[in-house]
Amino acid sequence: MRKKFIAGNWKMNTNAAQGVELAAALAKAIGSSTDVEVAVCPPALYLSAVGAAIKGSSIGLGAQNCHHEAKGAFTGEIAPAMLLDVGCKYVILGHSERRQLFHETNADVNKKTIAALAAGLTPIVCVGESLAERQANKTSDVVREQVQGSLAGLAGEQILKLVIAYEPIWAIGTGVVATPEQAEEVHADLRSLLTSRYTAAVADKVRIQYGGSVNAENAKTLLSQPNIDGALVGGASLKADGFLAIINGAK
Ligand code: 13P
Repeated sequence: MRKKFIAGNWKMNTNAAQGVELAAALAKAIGSSTDVEVAVCPPALYLSAVGAAIKGSSIGLGAQNCHHEAKGAFTGEIAPAMLLDVGCKYVILGHSERRQLFHETNADVNKKTIAALAAGLTPIVCVGESLAERQANKTSDVVREQVQGSLAGLAGEQILKLVIAYEPIWAIGTGVVATPEQAEEVHADLRSLLTSRYTAAVADKVRIQYGGSVNAENAKTLLSQPNIDGALVGGASLKADGFLAIINGAK
């Protein structure tokens, strides 16, 4: 049985005070409850402050990116061990915004995933097709290639330590959510890819989150699909009430 995992990707939003306030409200409401796994991923600058605000609760801390090298002359970058050092458990990798706006390739995401796993972080590896790719019936080809490339060379026991997030680009920040059937079709396809690359036992344990315009209204139906194991939430994770409603929808 895969435990549902709801993560909030705050992207480049909030200031320090707003981030702490949001995190504190979530920590107060969630407390030590563990029926749903919950994480918040604030901007890197606020990781420590948000980490302090969720301390003592069951909420995990996540970053939105990392570099693949452990240290050195990489101005502006953050190493996986540094994220661990400030209390992170998770790191989002290969988000479509990083792929599109910062030109990250599957090979880059693969290096980051390997480095994050080696440091002891749980990577949340994102994949997803554009609207043009969906309309050209290329969704399966695109997301399979992204998963194969981003997770290249990883053994089954490493796959068990990461989370995949399916985020169709056309659904991100648009209010156009994938239908439960559209999302489930891709999630099931990715699980069958994992079965063929690893074993059915491994594929059965890997959590695949859905992301893209998830909100309090649509979360429950999406999360009731057999292969949708959680959500990676953008905009709706910036308000405590809305995010808590999504978490409740996972119960
Ligand atoms: P929205 O929930 O704002 O559509 O963003 C989804 C996302 O990109 C989460 O990583």
